[in-house]
Amino acid sequence: MNELTPSSRADELRAQLQAQAHAYYVLDAPQVPDAEYDRLFQELQAIEAAHPELLTVDSPTQRVIGQVLAGFTPVHHTVPMLSIRTETDTEPTGAVAFDMRVRRELELDEGAAPVEYSAELKFDGLAINLRYERGRLVQAATRGDGETGEDVTQNIRTIAEVPARLKGVAAAVIEVRGEVYMRRDAFNAMNERQRELIDQGAKNEKTFVNPRNAAAGAVRQLDPAIAAKRPLSFFAYGLGDVQGWAVPATHSGLLDALAAMGVPVNTDRAVVQGASGLVAFHAEVAAKRDALPFDIDGVVYKVNGRALQQRLGFVTREPRWAVAHKYPAQEQMTLLRGIDIQVGRTGKLTPVAKLAPVFVGGTTVSNATLHNLFELRRKRVRIGDTVIVRRAGDVIPEVVGVVPAVRARYVPNFRMPRACPVCGSAVVRERDGMDHRCSGGLFCPAQRKQAMLHFAQRRALDIEGLGDRIVDQLVDAGVVRTLPDLFKLGLANLTALDRMGEKSAQNLLSGLTAAKQTTFARFLYGLGIRHVGETTAKDLAKHFGAMDPLMDATLDQLLAVNDVGPVVAQSVRTFFEQAHNRDVVNDLRKAGVTWTEGEGSAAGQVLQPLAGKTFVLTGTLPTLTRDDAKERIETAGGKVSGSVSKKTDYVVAGSEAGSKLDKARELGRPVLDEVALLALLASVAAGA
Ligand code: IVH
Repeated sequence: MNELTPSSRADELRAQLQAQAHAYYVLDAPQVPDAEYDRLFQELQAIEAAHPELLTVDSPTQRVIGQVLAGFTPVHHTVPMLSIRTETDTEPTGAVAFDMRVRRELELDEGAAPVEYSAELKFDGLAINLRYERGRLVQAATRGDGETGEDVTQNIRTIAEVPARLKGVAAAVIEVRGEVYMRRDAFNAMNERQRELIDQGAKNEKTFVNPRNAAAGAVRQLDPAIAAKRPLSFFAYGLGDVQGWAVPATHSGLLDALAAMGVPVNTDRAVVQGASGLVAFHAEVAAKRDALPFDIDGVVYKVNGRALQQRLGFVTREPRWAVAHKYPAQEQMTLLRGIDIQVGRTGKLTPVAKLAPVFVGGTTVSNATLHNLFELRRKRVRIGDTVIVRRAGDVIPEVVGVVPAVRARYVPNFRMPRACPVCGSAVVRERDGMDHRCSGGLFCPAQRKQAMLHFAQRRALDIEGLGDRIVDQLVDAGVVRTLPDLFKLGLANLTALDRMGEKSAQNLLSGLTAAKQTTFARFLYGLGIRHVGETTAKDLAKHFGAMDPLMDATLDQLLAVNDVGPVVAQSVRTFFEQAHNRDVVNDLRKAGVTWTEGEGSAAGQVLQPLAGKTFVLTGTLPTLTRDDAKERIETAGGKVSGSVSKKTDYVVAGSEAGSKLDKARELGRPVLDEVALLALLASVAAGA
């Protein structure tokens, strides 16, 4: 690209942007991640800024892209639907730069008071204009090119959240603008259903890349009956045409007024002062981004006062009083260099994409999961392709799709190996051929290593100092073959390992000694029985109280356990039917692993003074983590629930406790701080 003249590069970028915009806005099926589009867009902006003579009126930088899809009636927007300037940097400087521009435009000198802003989420969906006349919804339109959109009234009427009538207002015209979006849970459920339809042979069905495209696709669906089946939601963020209504003097006041009319307005918004307020809001939202039930791609800052907004006005396609501040993109494209096979704890083979390193979701990623052969085929991924990688929050990075391109040469379809790449045992296909599994069991070093790491993890035996580097070496050197071998390790075995000094070896040995004293539930979970997660392990521990009755339990006895169904029951049976597994349990007991509750007490009676009591935790406690507090309450027999109701016995509140604390007060439920919780636990333990 460097050999091109600025003029031909600009032409090339315009053509690419146009093609990508068509795929995105018209077909609702983008071919490249947003971040890639933004990059091309910014490159074109930079060329045009440096060479103003190259600017064309129809350049994508000069207009809002989007076309009316054939089949929809065009709607002329009385007030154009504009876009806003986007800051894509990851540093807070975007907020600072915006505040500086605003202050300069308003000619505020340094001593002047900070500007007041309304800070909101930037919802990742489709912009919609809702026209209410005399309080009734008469028309809904997409943005289109900003001047002319598509009439999607019938489809929008299927969204239950969008009021057909505004509460308490009969103004001649109020146009509410906002974003139609799809919640993540709704999106996943819908894609799951789509996959089933495709599996059943449906020809015209497809899955969607992300909630935004699913929402856009549903709104622009010509058949309202189909749109109605797609679960959509809506948040308002502004106004279009208004006649006969006194618009509130601030943006935040406007949002409050819309909420009072029954229009959905998101509550994660704030009125803040100056750049520091914007920076704090940006950070606060970044911390909870992944926990929100819907996707956002950034935050939006708006000058709060309408009078100030009017003074600031507009430049070409954007208002000067608003800016979008994006978060690091969670999707990027990169080259798929190869596909490796990873063998998991239960022997499942997972194809792992080996990628040209790429910065996505805040870190550099060079491996991403491809889930299984079925997914890999469905996405038509082949080595050498340019793929889209997604990394959202703490979720492991995944390859979500391929950037369509003509392959330069023939690349064969990827095949799963017939023999385990680690131990050579036969690979078997399961679940209608979707999953592949190594049949080697604990003979397979990969499975043995994973089993050990699972046993050692914090939620199981919590063996301090036993990480993957050490487990790799112990298994590879043949020092540790089974779980009980871990407790036979001595100083000499450990110091012989690579990069293991005497101090670390000592620490690991103390970690092993400390881990021997555990709970029955943790021990059970740590064994890694298929389908026995933490909760099931707790249920089994509570029900049986001791190891021997559990090992000898019949299917019927297992089925009598709370929440245990046939799959889990069979899995537990199968596990304990195998002599080598019983040996592992017995050898662990011989090695000195013991647990406090249950085992040994008469008929497995467990002391549970808080049985039947429900707790809700909220806010940050001074010393206990959430997990610690939960575990202590559960060990005493109490239950921890996520929401406060009349049935809640205690609410445990720390600093920054939110709505749960308010609810507790409202319902008159007792509130404890950490000291009071510990006192309660101590008193019941003493009294028991
Ligand atoms: S305000 C004139 N606020 O992001 C200002 N937009 O380019 C109009 N968006 O297409 C936009 N959340 O669809 C605004 N809280 C929010 C938003 C938001 C999402 C979308 C909007 C627009 C794009 C900005």
